[in-house]
Amino acid sequence: MRAPGIKRGRRAATLSARLSAHVTLEARADGNIVACLGGYLVGFGQFGAGAAAGAQELRRGWPLSSFASERRSVEKEIHLLVRRLARHGLLEYSLGRPHGEDQVVIEPQLPDYWPQTPPLGNADVLVLSRFAYMRRRANEMVLESPRAGALFRICNPQIAAALATLSSPQQVKQLRRRDGFPGLELLALLVDCQILFKVDAARDSGLRPAEGDDNLILWDFHDLLFHARSTEGRHANPLGGTYPYAGVMAPLPAVRPRWPGKRVHLRKFSAAQPEAISPAAKLLRARHSTRSFDDRRPITLAELSRFLDGTARVQTRFSSSAYDGGPLVAYAPRPYPSGGGSYELELYLAVDTCEGLARGFYHYDAGGHALVPISVRPHEFDALLRGAQFAMDAPTAPQILITIAARFGRVSWKYSSIAYALVLKDVGALMQTFYLMANDLGLGGCAIGISNIDLFAKMTGIDFHIEGPVGQFAIGRGMKTEPSD
Ligand SMILES: Cc1cc2nc3c(=O)[nH]c(=O)nc-3n(C[C@H](O)[C@H](O)[C@H](O)COP(=O)(O)O)c2cc1C
Repeated sequence: MRAPGIKRGRRAATLSARLSAHVTLEARADGNIVACLGGYLVGFGQFGAGAAAGAQELRRGWPLSSFASERRSVEKEIHLLVRRLARHGLLEYSLGRPHGEDQVVIEPQLPDYWPQTPPLGNADVLVLSRFAYMRRRANEMVLESPRAGALFRICNPQIAAALATLSSPQQVKQLRRRDGFPGLELLALLVDCQILFKVDAARDSGLRPAEGDDNLILWDFHDLLFHARSTEGRHANPLGGTYPYAGVMAPLPAVRPRWPGKRVHLRKFSAAQPEAISPAAKLLRARHSTRSFDDRRPITLAELSRFLDGTARVQTRFSSSAYDGGPLVAYAPRPYPSGGGSYELELYLAVDTCEGLARGFYHYDAGGHALVPISVRPHEFDALLRGAQFAMDAPTAPQILITIAARFGRVSWKYSSIAYALVLKDVGALMQTFYLMANDLGLGGCAIGISNIDLFAKMTGIDFHIEGPVGQFAIGRGMKTEPSD
């Protein structure tokens, strides 16, 4: 079966869905359609013979407009298959002239991305988001934004030039008259991805930092990009310990080669007798990561209470002026250090097994030293625990997974350029505090470097740029014979 053609003489670009380059589709004799990617197989269910033949057309592209009418059952089936492939991130979308070269290719970054074209009128005024940027990737030019559900490969330099004019607000009517007008559909797709936004002429000049969301005022460009690209959930790049340069160069040495100067030896000042070592130094030396937990002996609610009391409970409260004549700022210090005394970190607990506490998702109320249950969808709760288990390469899920989330605005309200870096440094300080308290209580713990900001947003209903995960920590009662790592 061939993909529906486009009427002769129609010059508008067509938006088509097609398989990403690394994916192949196989129609099995029993009607099952299977995708192969990097040695993995993903099944998509049984389809009729027409749909199976049509599926092969997905290598070249299937116009999305054909799904609007769907008079034939084959088209209905292909639409279903395309939606399923999209949900697995196996598709890209091409905008181009029929049978011509690609003008723009859309690469989804979020698993649930589907191209949308909100209506645009001649009177609408558009401008580029201050979070959008264009850069070279290999031999291509890509237009991206940490807010966008997809990135746009700009294949035609004229389109890049036309988009550059949108650094200042432009009326659609004027844009349409310009040479190299990229087409209304592309503009609408970019509006949907928040790479372009509509200016409310009555309210502002179009250069407002908020872009329709007051919580964006507090973000610097580089901080939002760093947050979205260095966590899981809002991009489709390789993530975690993938050893991308193992075949290119040798690893750096574990200890830095010495500087050439004459050394001042410190050994003679260190305590010779182990019993002379302070309790704090002993605790530091005993600290280690635990990844296997004893499911027959779960952590108890009393232990969890002591753990949170010792690491994260608000100890006192005070207020002071931000600066001479400035607004009064409230502070709530906790046991670990925090840049500027911001204490922007919040703790969310995914409790799998804890004696005396029901399985579920909780927020730690650090002021009241209490746990507040949050109702979440079971499959998302399980995905959170499974992700931690995978990150630790552990045999089972942790008894309790603590997600460390940041209220970013608490820090960026004060600090320019360094806000997000400060948040990550605070996470490090809190992680070490967790490790020491877990060891002190005879519990096991392990820091986890990856967090899924999209999953957390779905679970809590909080947008990723308002409050979101910046670290995770697993705790529980460790197995007696914890293998060293
Ligand atoms: C920021 C940070 C991120 C970490 N991420 C992970 C992780 O994702 N998975 C894991 O198994 N261990 C993780 N760890 C634990 C380290 O692997 C561990 O601290 C290191 O190997 C030293 O071992 P030790 O903690 O037992 O002394 C992390 C530690 C830190 C500080």
